[in-house]
Amino acid sequence: MDNNHDIRQIYNLTLIGFMGTGKTTVGRIIASRLRYGFIDTDHLIELRAGKAIPKIFEEDGELKFREYEKEVLKELANFRKMVIATGGGLGANQENIDSLKTHSLVVCLCASVQTIYSRVKSQTYRPLLCTADPMAKIKELLAIREPIYRQADVLISTDMRSVREVAQQVIFHFRLFRSKVKN
Ligand code: S3P
Repeated sequence: MDNNHDIRQIYNLTLIGFMGTGKTTVGRIIASRLRYGFIDTDHLIELRAGKAIPKIFEEDGELKFREYEKEVLKELANFRKMVIATGGGLGANQENIDSLKTHSLVVCLCASVQTIYSRVKSQTYRPLLCTADPMAKIKELLAIREPIYRQADVLISTDMRSVREVAQQVIFHFRLFRSKVKN
């Protein structure tokens, strides 16, 4: 947890974490409970690019996708009372987390490799996992990203928890954190 509660501006709640940790599903539930708006950064990117994420990766490459993420990240600073679900790579970058913390409580949803694999194995819309050995790719990416995800304000395990339970935990921490900051 960040100790500088009194200098943080907590207008929004941002969920980061690996693919398959439930950021979008949980984010929608939280938004409806808090009566906040909801936005998914991948959705914003698709609107800006005029095409779906797999097409962006295929036609423009991952680097271009990361540029779109940076552009969207800047826009988020103007948001108020929003629950923001991010793509798995956005919150795996220290600069991005620092930027998110200027307006949001940043909550990381975590899950084991096995849980992630079981959740994503039948889904085909994630370009990074369209490989011969998605399990190995998950392990490789997680090893790189975990130290950065850990910079979130709050880490919540989603293993063995329903999306409603996870949402409840996130809301608990959000309220607690907001009660400590002076805004
Ligand atoms: C990515 C995660 C995806 C999406 C893109 C890249 C990543 O979002 O942004 O495929 O780098 O981990 P989800 O975490 O919502 O699947």
